[in-house]
Amino acid sequence: MFPWRYANPEPYHVLISEYMLQQTQTQRIADRFPAFIERYPNIQALSKTTKQEIILAWQGLGYNNRALRLRECALTIVEKFGGIIPDMYDQLISLPGIGPYTASAIMAFAHGKDIAIIDVNIYRIYSRMMGISNPADANKSMIAIFADQIYPRGNASEWHQALMDIGASLCKAHHAQCNACPLNMHCKSAFQVNMDVKKIKRKEPSHRDVPNRIWRGRTVECLRNRPSFAESKELLLSAVIEQQVNDQDILWFDQTIIPALVKDSLIEYDMQTNIVSIAS
Ligand code: ADE
Repeated sequence: MFPWRYANPEPYHVLISEYMLQQTQTQRIADRFPAFIERYPNIQALSKTTKQEIILAWQGLGYNNRALRLRECALTIVEKFGGIIPDMYDQLISLPGIGPYTASAIMAFAHGKDIAIIDVNIYRIYSRMMGISNPADANKSMIAIFADQIYPRGNASEWHQALMDIGASLCKAHHAQCNACPLNMHCKSAFQVNMDVKKIKRKEPSHRDVPNRIWRGRTVECLRNRPSFAESKELLLSAVIEQQVNDQDILWFDQTIIPALVKDSLIEYDMQTNIVSIAS
């Protein structure tokens, strides 16, 4: 059982888990959620944290700029909503880092509201139920209408969490176990899901065949392990590359990685001393 999933969960726990679950795998979050809650037991504690502290606490939780956005989100909830996690969709979606998916998840899971939730897994399940075995061929507004009609009123929370579990275990993108699926009687694609759906690989900006996104994460990770979370740019680059550094590495680090992390307020770079540090 996931640590955030229990009867009548605290809205704060739902906010944190759904925020974490936006782009990172469930198991990774399940392992790290309890320590994060211990470090920041409530919205007030989270709103008082510094940038540096939350970047350090975010270790292993994926995209570091989400840590900064979560901090801004907590600050806004304390300043604008008196520390109470809103139970209105329009207020939730106005918060930093909260989009339609997370807003509706908080409405249903934290506040027991009747609302349709559509994440990529649920989108795939509904497409298949409607007879479209490749979700890329589905029409967004048709799925939205279907999603709105199908969930049981008064039980949106359990319904959508069950669908998330079906999407993670049975109705997978590249493997559907229709024989075990409780929805197979209601699914127009049951036992005929087309598994030829190819993964479309985005071509990402990369260096040494590794996406820059990974390098940015590694750079922050290296700084996390340094005394005072700071290091000279040259030594940091060596630690990040873990190989003999060449001129192209230096140029790329100077012109691509450092500026991107500075722009996201994750690090600071002092040109006089050549020291890179985690943002304070
Ligand atoms: N992914 C996003 N939210 C989730 C949840 N509440 N349970 C399982 N997986 C999820």
